[in-house]
Amino acid sequence: MDMNALYKLTHGLYVLGASDNGKMVGSIVDAVMQVANKPMAIALSCTNTSYTKECIDRTGEFSLSVLCKDIPPFIVANFGYQSSRTTDKWSAVKHYINNGLPYLQDNLAVFRCKVLHSYKLESNTLFVAEVTDAVDNKSGEPLTYLDYRSYFRQEVMTSFQNFQKENKTMAEESGKKWVCTVCGYVYDGDIPFEDLPDDYVCPLCGVGKDLFELQ
Ligand SMILES: Cc1cc2nc3c(=O)[nH]c(=O)nc-3n(C[C@H](O)[C@H](O)[C@H](O)COP(=O)(O)O)c2cc1C
Repeated sequence: MDMNALYKLTHGLYVLGASDNGKMVGSIVDAVMQVANKPMAIALSCTNTSYTKECIDRTGEFSLSVLCKDIPPFIVANFGYQSSRTTDKWSAVKHYINNGLPYLQDNLAVFRCKVLHSYKLESNTLFVAEVTDAVDNKSGEPLTYLDYRSYFRQEVMTSFQNFQKENKTMAEESGKKWVCTVCGYVYDGDIPFEDLPDDYVCPLCGVGKDLFELQ
């Protein structure tokens, strides 16, 4: 199978928003399309590892903010390169909350959607959802997945690296330590915690890096 053929299917890029018991979560998605007029419905595909997907499973509702070509690259990095499990993504961007769902302030259009059906695939969950509200906010060219692949990805990656460097410095300055959330072990090695290999495990209880928190 030639994977390049799949890149010729055209997609936009959107910020997906959902609620986790009042905490706002979200991610970047490209797998969105309108699939019906009656009811007005769209299809959204989320990877099964996404926390936003878990929250949509629970609440049956989500928002979409349509991105413009001139958005800062950090918006894509913020929502696409880290998980809401460990970060409050919405607090890092200008946004508003309408009836319990988050929307990006700088958008071309927004949608509010209610899940009608969900289909589990091995890697993804496909939601078919009714559009319960749609607002066309301003004119402009929507950012596409092709833009991301052809020129924007490098800018997105650089903005994320800068963001990580700033965060690391802030953490170091604040004297915070990486602590194992399972057994309480406090990491005090010479290698910065972020630079430890992905297969690093807690020397006391053996859990992985993902179960450490900066405290
Ligand atoms: C350009 C781009 C497109 C993406 N498209 C999708 C998508 O269509 N569906 C999806 O579930 N994840 C997609 N992702 C990945 C999620 O945005 C990413 O896994 C995110 O960190 C999930 O965050 P969460 O755990 O807070 O939900 C995309 C990421 C990027 C950078």
